[in-house]
Amino acid sequence: MIVAIDGPAGSGKSTVANRIAAELSLSKLDTGAMFRTVAFVAHARGIDLDDEDAVCGLAGSLAIRFQDAPQGPRVLADGRDVSAQIRTPEVDRIVSKVSAYPGVRRALLACQRSFAEGRDVVAEGRDIGTVVFPDAQVKVFLTADPRERARRRVLQRHGGESLAPEQFEREVAETLADIERRDQIDSHRASAPLRAADDAVRIDSTSHSIDEIVAMIVDLIKARS
Ligand code: DC
Repeated sequence: MIVAIDGPAGSGKSTVANRIAAELSLSKLDTGAMFRTVAFVAHARGIDLDDEDAVCGLAGSLAIRFQDAPQGPRVLADGRDVSAQIRTPEVDRIVSKVSAYPGVRRALLACQRSFAEGRDVVAEGRDIGTVVFPDAQVKVFLTADPRERARRRVLQRHGGESLAPEQFEREVAETLADIERRDQIDSHRASAPLRAADDAVRIDSTSHSIDEIVAMIVDLIKARS
């Protein structure tokens, strides 16, 4: 069984996909982490991000693997753990450019499909239900109000730590600007843009708790399996 969860940045895809994977013993595929890894390694190796051939060449040669660990799944690039480095504001800033290159998408598509061979998977991203797994048994398109998405990202970034209200508001405003910029690029690129599959169930998570969203999707999965 393949469960596809697509949606924009901060819509809650990762949290929801992790919970569903744990509850139903599915393997979780975080495709955003793969694009982030290509962006991070290209930047770290000093590759010019405007050089499409060089970035696509890197995507085709890089071995990206996921490994379970007590602190959550780790992402390895050519054997090196890059889980923390791919979540920085710098990578947030450059990842949409890299993920718009068709050659990068082709290289990662092959890895994404081979990951799912012989297993039950919950996959999250932007084009899972439309391009990567168009025959997925369950497709969900998760959205949320952009300000709420920015607020969640800031809370997530700081864990339990409390911030002064002015700093919190400033970070939410900066994150909102970045989210809107990425949504714009991700939704308007020519290759596999962010959009809901025609047969996806749309869920707006703005005013629902994570528990409620997980319960809705688990019900959908049970009804279709
Ligand atoms: O889900 P995320 O924020 O970690 O994704 C990072 C970027 O990767 C996002 O801005 C768009 C891109 N992406 C994509 O183009 N296709 C996917 N299936 C997943 C992510």
